[in-house]
Amino acid sequence: MPVRHFLQFKDLTRAEHEHLFQRTKIIKQQFKAYQQYWPLIDRTLVMIFEKASTRTRLSFEAGMQQLGGSAIYLNTRDSQLGRGEPVEDAAQVISRMSDLVMIRTFEQDIIERFASNSRVPVINGLTNEYHPCQILADIYTFIEQRGSIAGKTVAWIGDSNNVCNTWLQAAEIFGFNVHVSTPPGYEVEPERAGLYGTDHYEEFADPLEAAHDADLVTTDVWTSMGFEAENEERLRDFEDWQVDAEMMRQAKPDALFMHCLPAHRGEEVAAEVIDGPQSVVWDEAENRLHIQKALMEFLLLGKVGS
Ligand code: CP
Ligand code: NVA
Repeated sequence: MPVRHFLQFKDLTRAEHEHLFQRTKIIKQQFKAYQQYWPLIDRTLVMIFEKASTRTRLSFEAGMQQLGGSAIYLNTRDSQLGRGEPVEDAAQVISRMSDLVMIRTFEQDIIERFASNSRVPVINGLTNEYHPCQILADIYTFIEQRGSIAGKTVAWIGDSNNVCNTWLQAAEIFGFNVHVSTPPGYEVEPERAGLYGTDHYEEFADPLEAAHDADLVTTDVWTSMGFEAENEERLRDFEDWQVDAEMMRQAKPDALFMHCLPAHRGEEVAAEVIDGPQSVVWDEAENRLHIQKALMEFLLLGKVGS
């Protein structure tokens, strides 16, 4: 059996995503009830970070421990990865000493090359192009709050970044629509987003129009990690793309607000929105833990319970 990886959202079929959501519900309930569940005893996860993280590190490390396994943290500064060891060589070595690898890095090509040389499953913990674990948690959070996401409208306001690209891949798999509004010059690049077609998203020059009748309004930082040199320019270019109360009023009255975090109040989102009643950002963050436990279980043990 070839090793399965989760490098972008479309690496799993819709049925496999649905399986993960079912398992997440059970794993979350067990966790809340303090029930031990140690299916990954003696398994080791290696986590490689070339960029900063709070949620991703914590949720993978805690998640692996809660499943009975252990997690090892490597970063570029303290390992040979920062001193030019080829990624292919690192993959050969690391995957002979571990059962599962999670990587947060820059270009998608790096993680693809690592996976091609890995004996064990590799999970994308964020690249410049994608953030699939985040969208797993976001869709699970939507389902928890509102039921199926099929046929719903998600408004993406801001930068067409890694999180946006992953929403677009997810829309093709789950059959929902994404209304994207970016400032001129920051539009979606369909090839970079890895899209099959263009049926599931529409671009709007006006962010208020994009938010109209949406079931979910979501955004992210204006300057992603790795793009810091553009920060000043982006602050100017994005100033009309803040999600504020007026924008939320365009959406359906029961629309949710999501943000992958960390957030910058007063930039991409107003405090009244992220700290307001429609915001589900803390559930969204917590669900990273539960869904990634289901993902690690799936990649190592297959479809448990079905
Ligand atoms: N949302 C997210 O991935 O957060 P971290 O950068 O803190 O991991
Ligand atoms: N788009 C952001 C997400 C951070 C979790 C970044 O890549 O920095």
